[in-house]
Amino acid sequence: MIAPSILSADFAHLADELDAVIGADWVHVDVMDAHFVPNLTLGLPVVEALLRVTDIPVDCHLMIDDPDRWAVGYAEAGAYNVTVHAEAAKDPVAIARDLRAAGAKAGLSVKPGTPLEPWVDVLKHYDTLLVMSVEPGFGGQSFIPDVLAKVRTARHLVDTGHLRLLVEIDGGINNDTIELAAEAGVDCFVAGSAVYGADDPAKAVAALRDRAAR
Ligand code: DX5
Ligand code: ZN
Repeated sequence: MIAPSILSADFAHLADELDAVIGADWVHVDVMDAHFVPNLTLGLPVVEALLRVTDIPVDCHLMIDDPDRWAVGYAEAGAYNVTVHAEAAKDPVAIARDLRAAGAKAGLSVKPGTPLEPWVDVLKHYDTLLVMSVEPGFGGQSFIPDVLAKVRTARHLVDTGHLRLLVEIDGGINNDTIELAAEAGVDCFVAGSAVYGADDPAKAVAALRDRAAR
């Protein structure tokens, strides 16, 4: 699955930018609060507006403090998947329960330096695992290949029936790195600059899908 990140889109024309990625499986929306990460993007009112103009499932990546308080609002608004950061969540099991009760899939994300092992039991309550392959906060950074070890661990836990979740990767995904990530066992690839930096975003989505399937 390919999830274009609108972080690299034209924020003055977001509805058009969603139309430009016809064929995408999900659209990835990066919510940043200038506290959990050193950047500020958009919040619930903008997500609500996006949900009104697209049929593509919306994948909200919350890079915010206190997701225990804010995450469920995105699920109630109709986001398909809502991901919170393991490093920010106080009670991640309760968050997953609330997200699912509100009708969304629950996602847990780990930054590049955060190990997976302490979170394996918590992940039993989640539907998606978002492995960050750059430090969260900005688009256009270089892929950190070390995180593929976590992808392989997660893939193994899923394939052996210990976890039931989609493995998602976010950061520095392009036509080259997507092959490495696919080989390691990623199910869903987020790509910002590789899609919206291209002349034809829909073609870029198709090219990424093609490379991931090799
Ligand atoms: C970074 C965001 C990513 C970002 C990826 O913190 O979570 O979703 O949009 O951008 P690229 O694909 O350009 O690395
Ligand atoms: Zn993201």
